[in-house]
Amino acid sequence: MKFGLERIAVEVPRHSLDLALLAEARGVDVKKYHQGIGQEFMAVPSPDEDVVTLGAAAAERALEGVDRNRIRTVIFATESGVDQSKAAAIYVHKLLGLPRNCRTVEMKQACCSGTSALHFALASVALEPESKILVICADIARYGLGTAGEPTQGAGAVAMVVSSQPKIATINPKVGYFTDDVMDFWRPNYREEALVDGKYSIKVYMHALEQACKAYHIETGEGFDSFQHFCYHLPFTRMGLKAHLHLAKVVESSLTGSELHAQVQPSLQLNPKTGNAYTASLYMGLLSLLEQQEDLAGRKVGMFSYGSGCMGAFFSLEILAGYKEALPQESSQEILAKREALDMATYETWYETRMPQDGSAFDTPHISDRPFRFAGVADHKRRYERLDGRLEHSSSSASEHFVAAPLPDS
Ligand code: COA
Repeated sequence: MKFGLERIAVEVPRHSLDLALLAEARGVDVKKYHQGIGQEFMAVPSPDEDVVTLGAAAAERALEGVDRNRIRTVIFATESGVDQSKAAAIYVHKLLGLPRNCRTVEMKQACCSGTSALHFALASVALEPESKILVICADIARYGLGTAGEPTQGAGAVAMVVSSQPKIATINPKVGYFTDDVMDFWRPNYREEALVDGKYSIKVYMHALEQACKAYHIETGEGFDSFQHFCYHLPFTRMGLKAHLHLAKVVESSLTGSELHAQVQPSLQLNPKTGNAYTASLYMGLLSLLEQQEDLAGRKVGMFSYGSGCMGAFFSLEILAGYKEALPQESSQEILAKREALDMATYETWYETRMPQDGSAFDTPHISDRPFRFAGVADHKRRYERLDGRLEHSSSSASEHFVAAPLPDS
């Protein structure tokens, strides 16, 4: 039996900031952003967009044509969660009307928890082959105004359905891991912005890549030459190319520079327009690769996931014949092209907008045009709205064998 990706879809905020505006405001040569780090736009969430609204919208797209009553688990991977206790997966579960007989959980390990979610999902469907698992990776990257990390900020979500009826790719369950206790990037509970030693984090990323790749080779016997394409975690887009050239050097690859570029370039088409979306950025790279014109059926893809702190994971997938039919009707590039441009003043105002920290009630301004929005807080409780006219819990809350009783009153 095969296990892998049945569906994959992306969501981004309604607005984006042209990095030419940021370069002008910060007195930086725009070529540093465009060529040096490879970023053109930054996805900017409005005050009524967060990881729940982004993740729910990506999941809604990913679930088109999928029997929702077979979703047994929702795993929400994020490092910009909205609650210390309650899983963002529960808000999404409600917004999407998923079955009550469903497990919901949130996972964290910087930018690579989505990859662990994917492998937990694989193990889960191997035990219950009739089930489907919804994996959501959603994040908002914040480094601070005027910091070196600012031009790499971004936001977005990718949702994937993992099942025993993969239509897009099979995933090899073997993984090469590398973990070590490193302070290259972290966000203590009392901070909204990450603390980062940027240049050091690049060195640690490269080290984790080498070690995870080595571990993968020991696990599987497969190496650099086993793959036609590569996708890397993209904290900024040029990192993908840097990482690939570094790995090629370490393994003493005989491929030419242009052959190496061709292995990684197709995965680098979305991230320049979104910026870093932490857990989602590796999978935006995968979507970027899958949405290339060329038919990739039968090709093997090497995937490297990195989460500061740090953990690296190298794994692989094989693209299936007919995969294009299973991609969402609206391409990611079409979604990105419909975004609205933001000016610097609004970007900075939104950036500095803080929710009341004492739980007092507030309503967010209605800005997002996405199907779900964060409406505000009352009694310390977050409120979400579905805006596309469909009712929350529109699908059956029952599975074939189980009808949930109504909740007791509070
Ligand atoms: N034209 C073209 N390229 C230019 C340039 C110009 N005018 N000015 C600088 N550059 C290039 C630099 O040569 C460098 O490229 P290289 O690394 O290939 O040599 C690149 O732009 C970045 O310049 P640098 O001076 O290193 O930038 P920085 O001090 O602003 O820091 C990061 C860059 C990525 C470290 C910073 O954005 C950061 O901390 N990001 C968040 C953390 C992160 O992404 N970590 C990655 C691993 S998880």
